[in-house]
This record gives sequence, C-alpha cells and structure tokens, in this order.
Amino acid sequence: MIEISNFSFTYRESSEPVVRDINLTIPDGAFVGITGAAGSGKSTLTYAMNGIIPHCYPGDFYGSVKVCGLDTVECDLTEISRHVGSVCQDIDSQMVSSIVEDEMLYGLENFGVSHEEIETRVSEALDAIGIADLRDRTIDSLSGGQKQKVALAAIVALRPDVLVLDEPTAELDPASSVAVYELLRRYAREHGTTVVIVEQKIALLSDYADLLVVIESGRIRFADCPENVLEHADELLSIGVNCPRSATLCHDMKAAGLYAGPICRNVEDAVGMAEQALGLASASPESSRTAADAFAMTGAQATADIAERTAEKGGAR
Ligand SMILES: Nc1ncnc2c1ncn2[C@@H]1O[C@H](COP(=O)(O)OP(=O)(O)O)[C@@H](O)[C@H]1O
Ligand SMILES: [Mg+2]
Repeated sequence: MIEISNFSFTYRESSEPVVRDINLTIPDGAFVGITGAAGSGKSTLTYAMNGIIPHCYPGDFYGSVKVCGLDTVECDLTEISRHVGSVCQDIDSQMVSSIVEDEMLYGLENFGVSHEEIETRVSEALDAIGIADLRDRTIDSLSGGQKQKVALAAIVALRPDVLVLDEPTAELDPASSVAVYELLRRYAREHGTTVVIVEQKIALLSDYADLLVVIESGRIRFADCPENVLEHADELLSIGVNCPRSATLCHDMKAAGLYAGPICRNVEDAVGMAEQALGLASASPESSRTAADAFAMTGAQATADIAERTAEKGGAR
C-alpha cells in the first residue's frame, strides 16, 4: 500500500510548492495511472513514491509518504528500493552498464541475490518483457524504446512490490506501447505487484488503470476510476488533458441523446456501445462492422455525423 497524506514539496530551487496537498491511497496490486500537463508535477510525485524525494532532491517536505509500511523520510533509499522499482523518465540517466546483461546483473548483485538464482531471474525478466534477444547487445546500440524495455526488465528482475514507471512508453510506437501495457498487467496480476505509471497517452491509462489520477499545477484534480474521470471531458481539456477518442465518442452520443451509459474505457467497448446505441446490432453484421470501424478509426467528427444520420433514420422508423 502507498499512503500519501497532506504531502507538499518545494524543491530547494523553487519558490513555491511543486506538488501540494496530495492525499492518495493506493492499495496493493492496484494499477494506477497518473497524467496531467507537462510540468504539472507528475515526475515529482513519483520521486516521492520511490524515495528520490527527499533523499536525492532536498527541499521542503510536508506531510507523509508511506510505501509498503515504510516512511520514506525515515528509511534510506536502499531500503525503499527493495520494495519499489523505478524506471525514470530520462532513460539514459538510468543505465549504468554498457551491455544489457550487465545492466540486469547490476541490481541483482547489489541486492545480494545468490548466483544460482540470478540466472533464473535474468531469463525470466527478459522473457517477461519480451527482449531475450537483446541480452548480449550493447546499450549504445539500442533504440530508445529498447532501452526502456531493458530498464523495465532490470527492475522486474528485482521483483519489487511496487513498480513506479515514469512515461515508460514515451519512446515506443502505439502498438509496442500496448504490448508493454499488456505484459505489465499480466506480470502485475501474476505477482500481485502494484503499478504506478505516469503516462501522456490517456487512452492507454483509461484502458488499463484501476485508478486514474489527473494532476493540475501540483494538485490532484481527479482521482477515480477512468470512466468517472472521463466524464469531465471539458475540464480535462482545459487543463491540457485530451480525452481518448472512445470517450469523445460517448460524449458525442450522449449529446445527441443516443446514449446514457458510462464512458467507455477503450475502442472495443465504444464500438459495442455505438452498435447498440445506433440500433445497428440487429442489422447485417457486415454493415454494423463497417460503421463500427468507421467510428473507431475516424473519431469524433465523423461520429457526430453518423449519430445524426442514425437519429434521422430512427425518427423515420
Ligand atoms: N530537480 C528539480 N529541481 C527544481 N525544480 C524541479 C526539479 N524537477 C522538476 N522541477 C520543477 O517542478 C515542476 C514540475 O516538474 P515535474 O514533476 O517534472 O512535472 P511533470 O513530470 O508533470 O512534467 C516544474 O516546474 C519543474 O521545473
Ligand atoms: Mg515528468
């Protein structure tokens, strides 16, 4: 469990708190997404969870942060890192070795894991992240996305209770980002790991997170399940967070009086919602599929048109 109470932090160099009045409880095994505009304080919040604040960045620390029962101010970084594994936003600064395998070994050896177990842990982690083929590569020869995966595998090998990942898919294309989320979810469920991910791609968070936290100027603006957060499309937009297309589709359908249910969390749900709401479910599967695909691919503008036409069709029935 992560318990953050009345937490505010001012870097030594800043004149006012960068995050303030943060109250957040994250249960064990939760998959939590943190999003918000650039500079809103997302990374700072992750530093509080992995102990970088206050141990590496001095400043004014108010309130308390407890991770796995440890008060992060009272215990040292080594103790915290036995429970919390982190992947930083600046991936190059995280790499300590020149070969992938050495990067994997570094943490395990530091943690005093026995030699017999190290090999199992390394192979398992590389397989879990799908990069067994990179084991002997030099870090310099890797793409940004591959480096992110190596950092993730090196952390997963340590089997932490909590994973704190700061924009771990920033260097990845959409399909690889989804693949990373899939394997993270599978891994976390198998091991009961708590996952905290800072992410700009809100569509991914909406699909995968149990709890979606939106930060605005250092404060928590929303902390709820994605369906509930995405109800606030206009407010989100005003603080620099774009709703995913599936949510925009729901909002458009609601505005057109064609739908009254919860906001859909992903494209598949949105397609199902659209089919049902538009009464296409009973039409030929082919036409229903074509319409659904059009929704999913073209997004909100086309949706409004289709919704209107369908409404007209409904009126004529
Ligand atoms: N090490 C630091 N020292 C001083 N100010 C910092 C430091 N790191 C971040 N900041 C400032 O804190 C604010 C929030 O930054 P950050 O937490 O990195 O936001 P985000 O991750 O949402 O982009 C910014 O104004 C940034 O300039
Ligand atoms: Mg950041």
